[in-house]
Amino acid sequence: MEYVGSTLFAWLLLVVLVVYSRSPSSHLPPGPKGLPLIGNIFDLSLKELWLSLEKWAREYGDIVYIHVFGTGLVFLNDAEVAVDLMDRKGSIYSDRPHLVMAGELCGGYNIMSFTGYNDQFRRQRRLMQRALTPLVIKNYHPLLEMETIPFLKRLLSKPTSYVDHIRRYAGTLTLNVIYGHQVTSDDDRCLKIAEACADVLANDIAGGGFLWLVDVLPFLRHLPMWAPGSGFKHKAIKWKAQLTEFATVPYDEFKENMANGTAKTCYCSTLVEAAGKSITEQDEFDIKYSANTMYSASLDTTITVVTSFMLCMVLNPEVRIKAQEEIDRVVGKDRLPNFTDRPNLPYMECVLSEVFRWTSPVPYALPHRLMEDDTYRDYFIPKGSFVFANIWNMCRDERMYPDAHAFVPERFAQPADEETKKKRDPKNFVFGFGRRRCPGMYLAEQSTWLLITSMLAALDIQKAVDEKGNVIEPEVRYENSVFRMPAPFKMDIRPREHARKLMNL
Ligand code: HEM
Repeated sequence: MEYVGSTLFAWLLLVVLVVYSRSPSSHLPPGPKGLPLIGNIFDLSLKELWLSLEKWAREYGDIVYIHVFGTGLVFLNDAEVAVDLMDRKGSIYSDRPHLVMAGELCGGYNIMSFTGYNDQFRRQRRLMQRALTPLVIKNYHPLLEMETIPFLKRLLSKPTSYVDHIRRYAGTLTLNVIYGHQVTSDDDRCLKIAEACADVLANDIAGGGFLWLVDVLPFLRHLPMWAPGSGFKHKAIKWKAQLTEFATVPYDEFKENMANGTAKTCYCSTLVEAAGKSITEQDEFDIKYSANTMYSASLDTTITVVTSFMLCMVLNPEVRIKAQEEIDRVVGKDRLPNFTDRPNLPYMECVLSEVFRWTSPVPYALPHRLMEDDTYRDYFIPKGSFVFANIWNMCRDERMYPDAHAFVPERFAQPADEETKKKRDPKNFVFGFGRRRCPGMYLAEQSTWLLITSMLAALDIQKAVDEKGNVIEPEVRYENSVFRMPAPFKMDIRPREHARKLMNL
């Protein structure tokens, strides 16, 4: 009897083990336990979510899994894991989530950052990659250099509006590089439309992390316009019209200039000329919307990086002084730095790397949607999961960056072998991973270098002082949940003694 009993027990155990091992949820990566059905929705505080993600990474390891209404959210906390999955298995990790509000209702699917892993994505991505290689970007250097002085002048004329000036700088530059459109006044129509739309995208549509209730409960898309709770549909109609205008107005102006022979060399002209007379409707659609995508993708990232740089200078005056000493010594005090100076400014290189690392501008990148069930290190990752690279955590890996929360550019000057130097370069992480990696990374990296080096050459950026002479500590707040953009803070921006000469005043 005892034998029969133990055999039965063994069989039962086997059955349980087989069933358990076949059940996908048995091998899901670890993560905080959620509530039945709704999952971890209450764990996803949108305010500085990267801090919760860092805590989970410490508690659960390299891969964390949670779910919201059954949809898996997977956080890859280690760069090697992100490379293994998003790079090496790029054929199944490169889709984007289907976003009902941003993509479908607001028309965001024409913008490549929202497009699924389909033919339209592949065509537009190819166009962008061709136009944004380091070699092609060299052609834009004079343009980047030309925009620096007007930016510095605007900043000095009204320092408290520094966010507006950075937005204007990024917008002006992008309109020029992409459409050959020269902004000549603050009332420029293209600029106004573009600024309004970028604001709608970053702060209205994506301000809450892209997810709307209708994304979680898609049947809500059928709610009649008169029904209570249909406010999101009214907003979507308005925003879609704005986004369409944003894509159309600068492109139509460019086409008019092409027709009358006055178009300047730019992203659009290069591609239209390459397509020649046989240009198809689809070619035009791809050029128009890839151009539009670049504008929207470059604005908030630039504002995030440059405002964070200013915050770093306010909080770490010794870094500013050391960088200024290097610039004064190498470039002199008669002109602004330019790209030919870059190899001779090693400390500035460290400052740039530390700004990217410390800021982690898009802390958990944009979600990649997994297109097939996958297994990795014995974990089961279900098809349809949204997979995030936890860039914030990678940039705060204490093994690579001791005292990781401190702003210390010198860490990049520490002697190391070539492999370690390559591994610790934050540019490996901050632009994302795999086939969705930021196509604007070389342009962003070079324009940021020029702008922050020029700002240090011409300006002192430091803590503000009140009327009684008391130093005002900047209040550091982060309100956007996609970009780690410091909310406006108080600081003192003033010209250095030789600034007038640098700015040809
Ligand atoms: C410092 C500035 C920038 C940072 C930190 C940054 C970072 C990123 C990140 C993290 C992603 C998501 C990658 C992923 O899903 O794995 C991304 C996507 C993208 N970025 Fe950037 N970016 C910057 C500037 C720019 C600029 C200047 C442009 C255009 C000229 C640009 C164009 C794009 C586009 C089009 C995408 C979507 C790519 C896709 O969905 O395939 N970015 N960027």
